[in-house]
Order: sequence, then structure tokens, then C-alpha cells
Amino acid sequence: EKGGWPSFMAKEVAEQPEAVANTVRGRIRDGEVVIPELDGLDDLFRGIDRVIITACGTASYAALVGKYAIEQWARIPADVELAHEFRYRDPVIGENTLVVSISQSGETMDTLMAVKYARERGARTLSVCNTQGATIPRESDAVVYTHAGPEVAVASTKAFVAQITALLLLGLHVGRVRGSVSAAESAAAVAELEALPGKVAKVLAEEQAHVAQLAGWMADTRSVLFLGRHVGYPIALEGALKLKEISYIHAEGFAAGELKHGPIALIEPGQPVFVLVPSPRHSALLHAKVVSNIQEIRARGARVIVIAEEGDAAVLPFADEVIRIPLAGALFEPVLAVVPLQIFAMALATAKGLDVDQPRNLAKSVTVE
Ligand code: F6R
Repeated sequence: EKGGWPSFMAKEVAEQPEAVANTVRGRIRDGEVVIPELDGLDDLFRGIDRVIITACGTASYAALVGKYAIEQWARIPADVELAHEFRYRDPVIGENTLVVSISQSGETMDTLMAVKYARERGARTLSVCNTQGATIPRESDAVVYTHAGPEVAVASTKAFVAQITALLLLGLHVGRVRGSVSAAESAAAVAELEALPGKVAKVLAEEQAHVAQLAGWMADTRSVLFLGRHVGYPIALEGALKLKEISYIHAEGFAAGELKHGPIALIEPGQPVFVLVPSPRHSALLHAKVVSNIQEIRARGARVIVIAEEGDAAVLPFADEVIRIPLAGALFEPVLAVVPLQIFAMALATAKGLDVDQPRNLAKSVTVE
């Protein structure tokens, strides 16, 4: 039950610190990621030369973050394939391909069919799933469960942060097995994972009211854009999807670098644009590029709402609003940055008088192709 919350979505957004903590719990020992479910698979992880992550919707955006984690830590080429696109061509897969599927429900028909197809083609399959004993994990060689708890609201929130967390664990684990992550790097990343739930709680505590107020002011907005680079890009896509799903407002997420290749034509005075700003501590260059994107849209009259780490003052002269997230490692930032976007979508839908748990035309689990 909702336990005093106005909606399941509000409850599930608030449960995100636990969703992350429970997904990490029991999978860390002495500065190392230890995933008991993957015992005995070291040879498989050493032998693969390619990873394909397949999923739909929100889970496919977690997959994009997972791609970056697997490439950075495990040094294996990784690609994301929408499950419903995967098998209607002739993908190059074989016994050295690991197909990782991501599904909250574990019953999404598109994703299930992609997993079956990959297996028939001889690939190894690993499922990241939130539902014990669901069909997709049963059809896979291995499973890493997310422990977000039951997700009732149609719009996925806590399952998403748990999916990213599981993919970070997987990337680190495979990186250690393959020798591409040092013990020191592993210990630092593990410390980041352990600190993450507290940081999610901090974003909720410090930004909820601010973001809800912003959404209240914007209840008549007809279109919202979201920009991000690197792992901020999938978060921009997720921010747009949440808004479309529950507030029925036109929204689009872009890779910030694409702006000048077309989407900047959409910018007119008053157009609200969320920009996910990566930490300057990780890459001064990446940060500078995003700040210059902000200047470009600001110069054309955009209303810029920035999500930036605490202490990043470079964004202040160009932002109409600044939402702060705590300092975190580059690959960990998405778990923090998505939270204000979830709150924004929820508050905007609520301001429009909509039922955030049961958006029109959508079902929680899509069991048809
Ligand atoms: C978005 C949403 C959907 C699901 C997608 C996959 O809020 O809930 O986009 O993420 O239908 O569902 P699962 O993860 O159950 O396979």
C-alpha cells in the first residue's frame, strides 16, 4: 500500500536510497565487488569479446549507462540494442557475445524474445531483473537481481536507479576478473557505491521542494527539452520519457553535442531546457563543452534549468535555475541526476491534476510484442 504517500510513484521515488543500498548489499567484501550469483562465470567473462545490452524504455537508458561502465572498467566493446529492433535484422552475435538484458518486470515480451533469439544464436545471456523467478531470468544463463522491491507505479523510478547500480557492480566485477580494474580503482568505486544511497537521500531532502515549485510554475508549458553528454545523455532521455509518460507534455532528450546539428532550431524565447552538467572534476573539457552549450541556448532565449554538482559556479551566470547534486564519480552521477527529473515530472503531472500512477494508454508490464 501507499503508506501515507499521495501516490505509489511518490513512495517509490522516496524509496530510492534503499533501492540502491539493497542492490549493493551482500555484493561487496573488502573493497571488492563479489556477486554470489555469478560464481563460476569467470571464464565466461574472460572469454567474451563483445557485450550487447538489450532492453526497452527506461531500462534501455540504464543500459546506456551500463555500456559506459562496461567499456570503461571491463574494456569490452559494449552496445545497446532496443530489444524490439534486435532480432528483426541479422545481428553479428556468437558464443563470445554476452547479451545482457535489463527488465524490471522480467516479463516484457520484446526483451524476452531478444533473449531467446540471442540464445538460439549461441550467445551467452545474463539478465538484470527486479522480479524473482520471472520469465526473462529463467530463460537466461545467469541473473543479477536488482533489489528495488515491488514497483507499482507505471513510470519506473526506483527500478531504474537499481538497474544502473547493478550494471555498475557488473562492470566492476568483470573488470576485476579481466584485470582491467586495479585493486585501488575497485576500492574507490566500491566506496562510491556505498556512499550513493546517502547522496540520493540528500538530493531528495534538499531539492524536492525546489523542483516541485519549479514544476508548479511550469504547469502550462507545452514542451520541455533535456540535454546531456556522456552519462548525462541517457539521463536526458529518461527525463524526457518521464515527462511524456505521466504529464503528457511533449519532451525530448538530446545529446548536447547534437544541438548544433539540428535541435537548436527548436530554441525560442522562453523554451524550458534542462541541462545535465557533468562535474568539472572528471573532465574540464566535457564540462566546458556543456557550459558552452548552455550559453548557446541562453543566447537564444531558452529558460535554462541546470543540474550541476555542488560548488560548480561556472554555470551560475547562464542558468535561470540551479538544482544541486552531491559530488560523485562520473559513472555514479546519473543515479543522483535522475532524481530531480523524476520529481519534476511527478510534480508537473500533479499540478495538471493527472493520476501519476496510472498514465493513459500505458500498462506496467508490456507482455505483447
Ligand atoms: C518507463 C517504463 C517503461 C519500462 C519498459 C521496460 O517509465 O516504465 O519504459 O521501462 O516498458 O519494462 P521492463 O523493465 O519491465 O522490461
